[in-house]
Amino acid sequence: MSPPANISFARGAPSLDIVAVDDLRAAAERAFSEDPGGAFSYGTSAGYGPLVSWIAGRHGVEPEQVIATNGSMQADAFLFQLLVEPGDVVVVEAPSYDRTLLSLRGLGAELLAIPLQTDGIDVDALEQALDAGARPKLAHIIPNFHNPAGCTLSLEKRHRLIELAERHDFVLFEDDPYVELRFEGESLPTMLELGGAGGKVVYASSFSKTVCPGIRVGYLVGPAGIIADCRRIATGTYISPGMVSQAIVAEFCRSGAINRSIGMVKKALHERRDVLCAALGRDLPDARFVVPEGGYFLWVDLPDHVEVSDLEALARERGVIFVKGTDFLLEGGDSSLRLAYSGVPADQIGEGVGRIAAAYGDLVGTTT
Ligand SMILES: Cc1ncc(COP(=O)(O)O)c(C=O)c1O
Repeated sequence: MSPPANISFARGAPSLDIVAVDDLRAAAERAFSEDPGGAFSYGTSAGYGPLVSWIAGRHGVEPEQVIATNGSMQADAFLFQLLVEPGDVVVVEAPSYDRTLLSLRGLGAELLAIPLQTDGIDVDALEQALDAGARPKLAHIIPNFHNPAGCTLSLEKRHRLIELAERHDFVLFEDDPYVELRFEGESLPTMLELGGAGGKVVYASSFSKTVCPGIRVGYLVGPAGIIADCRRIATGTYISPGMVSQAIVAEFCRSGAINRSIGMVKKALHERRDVLCAALGRDLPDARFVVPEGGYFLWVDLPDHVEVSDLEALARERGVIFVKGTDFLLEGGDSSLRLAYSGVPADQIGEGVGRIAAAYGDLVGTTT
């Protein structure tokens, strides 16, 4: 087969071949025949009851501590609407998920960007900022297989962040859509689990990466008071989230299809990660990166003199796209890029990297 005209490492989304379409169809049929009343009515802003209970069981919390939403972006939006007022300081990681930065900026938050290290946010730098007088309301942290950086927050840093949140009285927002996608290494406890009775952690996750993004189901878990407030905002926003989607996801989870789906997705991502790292090592030896142990993303640093915006334009002409590092940072990132390997089947990754390497050769004047 001839290689595709365009290869996209740009979107943090799965390729269709790793969506469990048959299991989803079967879950939909069962959901519609077994609970048509629940699936086809408005429901409440808490979300579809059986799904809320499943999520509560999964995280060992009470159903009152859960709100299931239309994707976790919606959950984030409710939490931000509740907690963030213009001028409030919010800690973000540098780099971080571009949509989070945009939503927080849209609310008028003052963003305090703390650099990421290979084991997550630089907690010493955060502590120094707090000791120097910073008073954040909220800290947004992506603990596992970071978007865009690919790194994972160490256990020690998870503990230290909880301590800092308690000592300096801010909410720790653990944004964790990739947690189930570890294909290498040991799983770490969530800060929600470690936080215990402290009540400082609000946790978000999603079925976008374990079922499919089009289903638009995500959720928030946190202290019952915060969740009750989010439910009130949700009622005013949309009465209730999409019950049809949530009923399908509930049945997908209840039947165990979710575990098969996660297994399939992890296997494919593992292979794609391996092929991508090998191709970068072979064709683009100037690339520096942390090898992700799960998830969708690999962050590449190129030598400082390389303008990735120029590389992006040349790569696009050669039929390959990715996202520039600058999109994920308030400043800097000019020589970095994010490669999402979730959407590119393994047999196209080598071709895609070859095109980036050829564009790099055009830019720096040599083929590497
Ligand atoms: C860190 C992070 N948070 C939130 C989201 C939003 O996910 P959802 O599809 O559940 O809205 C994403 C999606 O890529 C993400 O990477």
